[in-house]
Amino acid sequence: MILIILGTRPEIIKMSPIIRECEKQQKEYFILHTGQHYSHNMDKIFFEQLNLPEPKYNLDVGSGTQAVQTAKMMMGIEHTLIKEKPGVVLVQGDTNSVLAGAIVASKLKIKVGHVEAGLRSYDKSMPEEINRILTDHCSDYLFPPTEKSKQILLKEGISEDKILVTGNTVVDAIHQNIKLSENNVLNNLRIKKKEYLLVTVHRQENVDLIDRFKGILDGINLIAKEFNLPVIYPIHPRSMNMFKKFGLNTNENVKLIGPVDYLNFLQLEASAKMVLTDSGGVQEETCILRVPCVTMRDNTERPETIEVGSNILAGTQPLKILKCARYMKKVENTWQNPFGDGKAGERIVNNITGVN
Ligand code: UD1
Ligand code: UDP
Repeated sequence: MILIILGTRPEIIKMSPIIRECEKQQKEYFILHTGQHYSHNMDKIFFEQLNLPEPKYNLDVGSGTQAVQTAKMMMGIEHTLIKEKPGVVLVQGDTNSVLAGAIVASKLKIKVGHVEAGLRSYDKSMPEEINRILTDHCSDYLFPPTEKSKQILLKEGISEDKILVTGNTVVDAIHQNIKLSENNVLNNLRIKKKEYLLVTVHRQENVDLIDRFKGILDGINLIAKEFNLPVIYPIHPRSMNMFKKFGLNTNENVKLIGPVDYLNFLQLEASAKMVLTDSGGVQEETCILRVPCVTMRDNTERPETIEVGSNILAGTQPLKILKCARYMKKVENTWQNPFGDGKAGERIVNNITGVN
């Protein structure tokens, strides 16, 4: 029996190919949702759109400080694991839901599989970096997306026989959904293909600090003005809260909208002239969709995107962000996708169930 633990928007999206594969191979599995994300447009909408089964358990932990949120998840997960005794627990990525699942399962001597293992920003001020390192080091199956992330795991002393390079399930998810995403979102927003910019910003270390958040918004305002293009910014709830709290604003070219569903978001990404972000998943998706990306962070755990030339690190200073956008405007989008062939889900399910 496989238990798939998830809790946030990106985990629902990146676990969806694994869930589909379990269905296809008729494996016994069930889903536990921690409830870390709970607003309809951060949670249910993805289950509906991706046609995923209801989680058997939802812990409804909601928001809280790092410790309160993680502790509540751990208590609920422990209770469920003792009751259900799954053979293997799968977690994906670097959120608090991932850390809680991995720690509890490993202490109950239940095998843990970490999807998207081996990513490192080498910046321990990010809660995600702590979550990744600890999860990798208590996992039994490690599924790095690339050879580069495998090498990171080996350097940290993780034994090679636990590691399988699979590609990233984000590629599977794009292949499975990109056709479906051809819809009316551009018309509805009154924008034209390749004549607008797309922005997402939600990292705690960016939006919870007024100087950094303001620097990013000022950079986006400069770009909107110089490029004379509309900017679509589907704003994450954390960022919306901080935007209001700090009394920030944007210029008239920047259109703030609520978080959008996956199919609309894929379409917005694929048709954008350029994407400016601090999201992990968006750095990968733009690389796969061949759309230039400017990452408004000081580091990235997705260096493959920088190496192939789809992405550039801009930090949070307005003029540096503008300079990076000018540079990315000129790049040829002929790079190769480093994140695999879209069969990561199949490799992962085969591996944990002992097929080849
Ligand atoms: C979390 C992850 C981050 C991931 C992101 C994906 C951690 C430490 N962080 O960050 O790695 O990139 O999810 O989007 O696990 N909120 C709502 N509705 C929701 C969820 C959150 O209104 O459905 C608001 C609440 O005010 C909450 C805040 O957003 O306090 C932050 O939510 P939280 O889950 O703690 O962190 P994220 O910033 O979403
Ligand atoms: N996404 C979405 N709607 C949005 C913004 C993002 O569906 O309004 C999707 C996006 O396609 C990607 C994932 O959410 O697959 C990224 O999630 P997020 O940026 O919240 O988290 P991160 O990847 O940084 O952990």
